[in-house]
Amino acid sequence: MNGLNDSQVYLNGDYLPLSEAKVSVLDRGFLFGDGVYEVIPSYLGKLFRMQDHLDRLQDSMSRIRLELDYDFEQWIEILTPLLDETRDQYIYLQITRGAAPKRDHAFPKNPIPTIFAMCSDIKPFAGAERGVKAMTMEDSRWEMCNVKATTLLANVLLRQQAIEQGCAEAILHRKGYVTEGAASNLFAVIDDVLITPEKTAEILPGITRQVILELAEKNGCRVSEEVISLDALKTATEIWITSSTREIVPVVELDSVKVREGIPGPMFKKINQLFQQYKRSL
Ligand SMILES: Cc1ncc(COP(=O)(O)O)c(C=O)c1O
Repeated sequence: MNGLNDSQVYLNGDYLPLSEAKVSVLDRGFLFGDGVYEVIPSYLGKLFRMQDHLDRLQDSMSRIRLELDYDFEQWIEILTPLLDETRDQYIYLQITRGAAPKRDHAFPKNPIPTIFAMCSDIKPFAGAERGVKAMTMEDSRWEMCNVKATTLLANVLLRQQAIEQGCAEAILHRKGYVTEGAASNLFAVIDDVLITPEKTAEILPGITRQVILELAEKNGCRVSEEVISLDALKTATEIWITSSTREIVPVVELDSVKVREGIPGPMFKKINQLFQQYKRSL
């Protein structure tokens, strides 16, 4: 059984210690950020919503024209040896278009993708229960945010700017409406309706987002996928950011103004409890 301590990783067909995992400096992931990735939680050895993660991976690969034909069973076979069934972990899986001879931007004729996977413990996110501060920022990313691309420079700069302002996340907006967080999806409760921006190329179709929508609908919450203007967001009684590693995190202060009374709201408590139950029930 491989856990975090011995740091076994998967690279192109082999399992080896992280310190021995090496790729070419001509790898297009390194040179161009020409690759895609997934982050898949594993609760006590069970991969969470694996089919959804693989569907999104396949979609990301198709959109960047990266061909790799592994089916569900093959991915399970590759990833299972990395898991420890006594811990909550997440798999980081990255696929790049392989090496770029002469650093040519054009695709190589017969690319050999680089496939890398590693596993880390999920550490409870500090502040998840109390809530966090966030700030709004102009969304400076490209136009294919529905691709889970390793090309994350804009996200990195936005998140860093937020952290330097004492915030846990940057909430992004374009042309007056909000899209998502720098590394998360966004939910708002406005007039007792749980709202999240609809799925377009401007957001990543988050798996946590999908699970929350399903749980909320099943449990009688009023739910809507629609455009949220920046002005409307400022009237929200609850704001959450969601992702596989942080799960559901209430934002209790936005742009230095308290959301509600600066404490997590009742809808968060309800949906978070349902989410935790659902996670453990699988
Ligand atoms: C930009 C962005 N949006 C949304 C998400 C949430 O996606 P998921 O719930 O599948 O982790 C992430 C996760 O890292 C992200 O980077």
